[in-house]
Amino acid sequence: MGFLQLKQITHYYFNSSSYTKALNNLSISVDEGTFISLLGPSGCGKTTLLSIMAGIIKPTFGSVSINNKPLEKNQREIGYMLQQDYLFPWKNIIDNVLIGPKIVGSQYNEMIEKAKQLLIDMGLKDVIKAYPTSLSGGMRQRVALARTLITNPSLLLLDEPFSALDFQTKLKLEDFVSALLKQYHKTSILVTHDIGEAIAMSDQIYLMSANPGEIHQQFEVPIEIRDLSPFEARKHIKYQHLFDRIWEELNRLETKSAI
Ligand SMILES: Nc1ncnc2c1ncn2[C@@H]1O[C@H](COP(=O)(O)OP(=O)(O)OP(=O)(O)O)[C@@H](O)[C@H]1O
Ligand SMILES: [Mg+2]
Repeated sequence: MGFLQLKQITHYYFNSSSYTKALNNLSISVDEGTFISLLGPSGCGKTTLLSIMAGIIKPTFGSVSINNKPLEKNQREIGYMLQQDYLFPWKNIIDNVLIGPKIVGSQYNEMIEKAKQLLIDMGLKDVIKAYPTSLSGGMRQRVALARTLITNPSLLLLDEPFSALDFQTKLKLEDFVSALLKQYHKTSILVTHDIGEAIAMSDQIYLMSANPGEIHQQFEVPIEIRDLSPFEARKHIKYQHLFDRIWEELNRLETKSAI
């Protein structure tokens, strides 16, 4: 039985004159401690699906449960990093990271130390007291990631967390986040457009198709790759094989949706 279960999720967006069917009859079961990536063309419903998993959007049809309990009873266990960073411009960096702990209120002093350490680990030591407007896009994204990690959620939902980063920072952060999540046996869902990142970080990859969004195909990442850090995984021969298979399938999907 999966830790996170989505059953027959269908979702429509309505406005006054039309509607969009964003997701169609989608079922997923995610085991505890696994890392899943969602890949697929723009507009195929990845963010919608993540928002449904987070309980921010209620699906038109279908159900979501964590540990066999409805989602509403588990909301505190979920950390969601949105596609936009939504940092508060009037709060400095460390206070932005500490928003969650401040709301919960417990062990606040310990959390201040933890926030500092996370920011140092993410290469943000020099901007702990700075304000978001003075940071680059990549730095802001790292702050948002620290804010998601600090409350120690058991389910992490990450919407393109590395997309605004330069390649070197991205590789370093992938290694850092992957090691952290493995160490604490977290369950994570990552949305990405980067096939290589999906392979290097995940146990399984779901390839979605668009109009309406559906799970098109599921790929298992070979165990030899899973045991490596994302940086090392990229050098493995099986990485290249899987990359080619997914690349071909994604191209086929995009050609089909362009016709
Ligand atoms: N708030 C909304 N109101 C109406 N339609 C929406 C809304 N949000 C998303 N959609 C539509 O639902 C579909 C899925 O959108 P979604 O943002 O989930 O896609 P995505 O896979 O995350 O795309 P991207 O890769 O570009 O981030 C798209 O057709 C989009 O236009
Ligand atoms: Mg999106």
